[in-house]
Amino acid sequence: MSRVHACTLNTGAKMPAVGVGCWFQGRRDAECPETYEMVSNALKYGYRHIDTAWGYGNEEAVGKAIRESGIPREEIFVTTKLTNNHHHAVREGFNQSFKALDIGYIDLYLVHWPQAGDPKTGQTIPYGQSPTMAETWKQMEQLVGNECRAIGVSNFSVKNLEILLKDAQVVPAVDQVECHIYLPQAQLDKYCKAKGIVLTSYSPLGQPPSGQTSAILREPLVTELAKKYNTQPGTILISWVAQRDNWTVIPKSSNPQRLKANLEIVKLDQRDHDALSNVHQEPGKLTSLVDYAEKMRNEGTVFGWTVQEMGWEQLN
Ligand SMILES: NC(=O)c1ccc[n+]([C@@H]2O[C@H](COP(=O)([O-])OP(=O)(O)OC[C@H]3O[C@@H](n4cnc5c(N)ncnc54)[C@H](OP(=O)(O)O)[C@@H]3O)[C@@H](O)[C@H]2O)c1
Repeated sequence: MSRVHACTLNTGAKMPAVGVGCWFQGRRDAECPETYEMVSNALKYGYRHIDTAWGYGNEEAVGKAIRESGIPREEIFVTTKLTNNHHHAVREGFNQSFKALDIGYIDLYLVHWPQAGDPKTGQTIPYGQSPTMAETWKQMEQLVGNECRAIGVSNFSVKNLEILLKDAQVVPAVDQVECHIYLPQAQLDKYCKAKGIVLTSYSPLGQPPSGQTSAILREPLVTELAKKYNTQPGTILISWVAQRDNWTVIPKSSNPQRLKANLEIVKLDQRDHDALSNVHQEPGKLTSLVDYAEKMRNEGTVFGWTVQEMGWEQLN
């Protein structure tokens, strides 16, 4: 077992390779008081990287757990995200997260999705209409300073990063996307390395409902390697991402045993790592495993944009 290393962002800041995710599968904080306990436990077990978002409804509980941990603020890396309905007023969106977290500064602020939403109707603004990705990014750039140490994006494909970078003064520090052995994101991996953008994998366990399993947790190679390394399948999946150059990973667990185990990554032999990297090439394996995947497959849309607009028509 080994403790986690860090990735260096284009700002020079260090982002621990394994963090804890704070999304409770659609339950917002009033319905899930576990957030405070999960983040407090995570910090006790040695996590120093926490991923939340305005949209998760739990920034206050996350901030409280951080403040009450007694751990110096500068030892903890905190990411939060701009909600779609605030693309037109990024500073206002940031201020509400800043206030809710109440931890002095935010290490990384991400545009949660490239789609802007209409704050009045909640409807997605059509692709290319104002506020465009470039317009939102211009506002994001204004935030960088003492309160907001780095800015980045989430759910951006190579296609949409290209559009963003055309006018950008600041290169995003991070792109956070779905990534696991069935969706290794090879194209984005190559592109982001070339541009100096660190990648973060969300849903690295395939987003199973709590206490259940997912296709990748049951994948025969994964269970076989779990036996070989005397660990559990989740650890093999998290270790596979953490061992990729330029990647960080943010599994969520509010179960204390799993939370603890998820930080204890193993060093995979290069052959085993390569074998895991190739699993998606087997027929029928290359796929998205998250909550919006079914709609993406059936209707060809992701929260109001087509897969072509997302730049996700060819998974890889
Ligand atoms: N940027 C975005 O659009 C976006 C989208 C999705 C997620 N995220 C971020 O990424 C984080 C992680 O992704 P995710 O929550 O979608 O999926 P995930 O981390 O792949 O899966 C979480 C689920 O797996 C269970 N689990 C945790 N550890 C396990 C283990 N070792 N073995 C078996 N099951 C285990 C959890 O249940 P227990 O809690 O009961 O252990 C929970 O139900 C989120 O919390 C969020 O911070 C970002």
